[in-house]
Amino acid sequence: MQSQIYSADEVPKKHPHIRTFGARHGRMSAIRERAITELMPLMSLDRFETPVNLATETGAAVVFVDFGCGMGDHTLELARSKPDHHILAMDVHTAGITQILNLVEAENLTNISVFLGDGIDLLKGRIAAESITEFHVLFPDPWPKARQQKRRVLHLDFLTLLHPIMQNSGWLRFVTDDDSYASHVAALIPQQDFFRLVETDWRVPSTRYHRRALDLGNSIHVFNLQKI
Ligand SMILES: C[S@@+](CC[C@H](N)C(=O)[O-])C[C@H]1O[C@@H](n2cnc3c(N)ncnc32)[C@H](O)[C@@H]1O
Repeated sequence: MQSQIYSADEVPKKHPHIRTFGARHGRMSAIRERAITELMPLMSLDRFETPVNLATETGAAVVFVDFGCGMGDHTLELARSKPDHHILAMDVHTAGITQILNLVEAENLTNISVFLGDGIDLLKGRIAAESITEFHVLFPDPWPKARQQKRRVLHLDFLTLLHPIMQNSGWLRFVTDDDSYASHVAALIPQQDFFRLVETDWRVPSTRYHRRALDLGNSIHVFNLQKI
C-alpha cells in the first residue's frame, strides 16, 4: 500500500470522522474561566498562522504532541524535563487544558502550546508537513463495546492523516491497557505502510490513566511506531 499525502482541502472530504470522545457537562469554575479568557490567547495554537510549524515558530529543537492529554500530567512532565522541546497538548475537555494553562503560568513554563477541541481536526491541514517529532497517544478512550469501536482514535484514517505531519523517522507512541484495543492496533499495523512497529525501550509516562491501569492490575500494551 502506498502512503498518500492529501492536500488540506482534500482531507476533510476523504476523512469525515466520527467523534472519539464522550460529552461532559458541568459548570466552569471562575479559575477555569479565567484560564480560558486570559491565558488561552497566550498559549493557544491559534496564535500562529496555519499551517503551524511549532519548531520554526518557537525555535524548539523538537516538537512533541500529547494527544488526548487528559489532566496534563505527561505534557507538564515533558515540558519541565525537556526545556528545549515544545509540547503541544490537545484535549477536547476544558478541565485538563485549563489545569495546564494555570500551571504553565504558575511555573513560568514557556514551552507548551494548547489546543482545546477535536485534535483530529488539527491533523487536517492545520499542522505543517514534517513538523512533529513525536506524537503520543496515551491511554485513549477504549470504546470497548463492539458498536462503539468505530470511535477509537487509532485506525487507518488516523494514520493516513498523521503520516504527512510527522518528521522523517518520527515516533507515534501509543499505549493502552485495553486488551481488545491492543489487538485492534496489532492487526492494523500490517495493513499499512505509514508506520512500522519497533521494539525499543521507552518508559511509559506516569499519567492519571496509567496509574489507574496499574491499580487495576491491567496489562499495559505499548506500541512504538516509527514513520516509514
Ligand atoms: C482516557 S483519557 C486519557 C488521558 C491521558 N492521556 C492519560 O493517560 O491520563 C482520554 C482523553 O482523550 C481525549 N480525547 C479523546 N478524543 C479526542 C480528540 N479527538 N481530540 C482531543 N482529545 C480527545 C478525552 O477528552 C480524554 O481526556
